Amino acid sequence: MTDKTTPETESTAEGTPETPVRRGIKSYVLRAGRMTAAQERGLNDVWPKWGLTLADGRQDLEQLFGRRAPCVVEIGFGMGKSLVEQAETHPETDFIGIEVHAPGVGKLLDEADKRGLTNLRVYREDALAVLADCLPESSIDTLQLFFPDPWPKKKHHKRRIVQLPFVELVRSRLQPGGKLHMATDWQAYAEFMAEVMAEAPGFVNTAPAETAPFVERPGFRPLTKFEQRGERLGHGVWDLIYRRD
Ligand SMILES: C[S@@+](CC[C@H](N)C(=O)[O-])C[C@H]1O[C@@H](n2cnc3c(N)ncnc32)[C@H](O)[C@@H]1O
Repeated sequence: MTDKTTPETESTAEGTPETPVRRGIKSYVLRAGRMTAAQERGLNDVWPKWGLTLADGRQDLEQLFGRRAPCVVEIGFGMGKSLVEQAETHPETDFIGIEVHAPGVGKLLDEADKRGLTNLRVYREDALAVLADCLPESSIDTLQLFFPDPWPKKKHHKRRIVQLPFVELVRSRLQPGGKLHMATDWQAYAEFMAEVMAEAPGFVNTAPAETAPFVERPGFRPLTKFEQRGERLGHGVWDLIYRRD
C-alpha cells in the first residue's frame, strides 16, 4: 500500500441503484511499474484464454467453467501467489481472481498457464464493479479478501474496501451458507472489519467464543506475498470468517 495519490485512475463505471457502492469506495491506487517478461507474456499471450472484462457482462458460472463446481472469488490477489496455489491444490473448485494491478494479473496468468490450470479466471478491474455487474446473485461459495490495503490514516478510512455497502454487496453474491474470509496484518483494520460486520445484516461470525471475533489462522490459507513481508517485519495476522445465513 502506498499513500501517494498519483498516478491513479477513476473507475469509469456508472453506478446504478443496485450498485451505489461503486461511487463510494476507491480502495486502490494504481502504481506505475515495469513489467517482467513473464508478466508481459501472461498479459499478452495468456489473457485471451482466461481474462474477463466488465464488457463480458453478467456471467453464468456453469457456462464459464464448463461444469458445476464450488466457486471461490478472491479480491486483490496482488501477485497471485496464494491464489495460484489454491487453484492448483483444489482442482475440484473454480476460482475467480480480481485485481487492478497489471503486473500481478500478468504474473498470475503466466503461473496459471505454466501449471496448466483450467479452473481459474481473472478480471483486471475494480472488484466492486465486477461484483455488482458480473457475478450473479447467490452464486459464489467463498469471497476471499486477503490483506486489503489498510489505509491507516484516519482521513483515508473511507477508502477501506470493507464498508457496509461493500459487505452487503458481497452478501448478495454469496450463496446461503457461503463464507466471507478476510485477513489483515493491521490490527486497527481487523477491529474495523469486525465493527462493520457486526453492523451488517445476514452474516454469522464463525469464530469460537475464545478467539471471537477472530479465528485462528486457518491452515488452508496459503501464505500470501504481503503476509510473508509482514512476517519478516514481525506483524501479527488476524483472520475473520463470516457465514451468510
Ligand atoms: C496490500 S495488497 C495485498 C495483495 C495480496 N492479497 C497479498 O496478500 O499479497 C492489496 C491489493 O488489493 C488490490 N485492490 C485494492 N482495491 C481493489 C479493488 N477495488 N479491486 C481490485 N483490486 C483491488 C490492490 O491493487 C493490491 O494489489
